[in-house]
Amino acid sequence: MTEKLPEGSQHAHDTAEQAAQERWEAVDRYLTDLLAPDDDALTTALTSSESAGLPSIAVAGNQGKLLHLLAASMGARTILEIGTLGGYSTIWLARALPDGGRLISLEYSPEHAEVARGNLARAGLDHIAEVRTGAALETLPKLAAEPGAGPFDLFFIDADKKNNPHYVEWALKLSRPGSLIIVDNTVRGGAVVERDSTDPSVVGTREMYALVAREPRLDATAVQTVGVKGYDGFLLARVVS
Ligand code: SAH
Ligand code: DHB
Ligand code: MG
Repeated sequence: MTEKLPEGSQHAHDTAEQAAQERWEAVDRYLTDLLAPDDDALTTALTSSESAGLPSIAVAGNQGKLLHLLAASMGARTILEIGTLGGYSTIWLARALPDGGRLISLEYSPEHAEVARGNLARAGLDHIAEVRTGAALETLPKLAAEPGAGPFDLFFIDADKKNNPHYVEWALKLSRPGSLIIVDNTVRGGAVVERDSTDPSVVGTREMYALVAREPRLDATAVQTVGVKGYDGFLLARVVS
């Protein structure tokens, strides 16, 4: 938060922000317990990630359920994820696929990929979901060159935010009319409105929005979110042609 506040009001401001965060978390717990509780495989995906020292930045349970519902609603048969971490979002997405469906998830870190592969196997999804190691900007061209690669019905982009414009370009290349592109973390505590930001994540996300806005093949919106993940948001773009 960068807003300037009158002398003496900083403490009250911090306390108010903390109270807001606690409220958002309580509501997320309420909604998630009722509608999107983790089962054993999802719980283990998080605990094994934590034990292995992975950062706690997976999507929230209710967000994972949203990904699942979107994939199921559109009848997705093929999904490409960029940014696997321990495979938590991967499990939510792969569980929406029908028999014969396929998910490929791209992950830079071999350590993260190994944890994710274990979690996918425990979830009984290793025949559906495959984790490929390497920087996505290197693995995407290889994937695109494979015979029969794509088109993918749904893309979940959730890796290094500075490359978001490139990832959306690749998603477009690997899409068909009707594909859905979802990009995570596109509000960043509101920092996305800072046009002079030098934070590469903010710069990359703003370039991604500009690209999406001028791309006639995409019809898009973005939504702000609050909850256990703080204040953030996501972009949804439908490939129209
Ligand atoms: N989608 C996951 C969270 C992903 S966190 C979930 O919600 O459960 C972001 C992941 O992107 C991290 O594991 C990080 O290692 C990976 N990453 C960062 N840079 C990358 C790159 N250049 N190519 C592929 N993956 C990358
Ligand atoms: C970060 C990355 C994410 O994908 C996320 O959902 C939250 C935080 C991060 O890099 O800090
Ligand atoms: Mg994310």
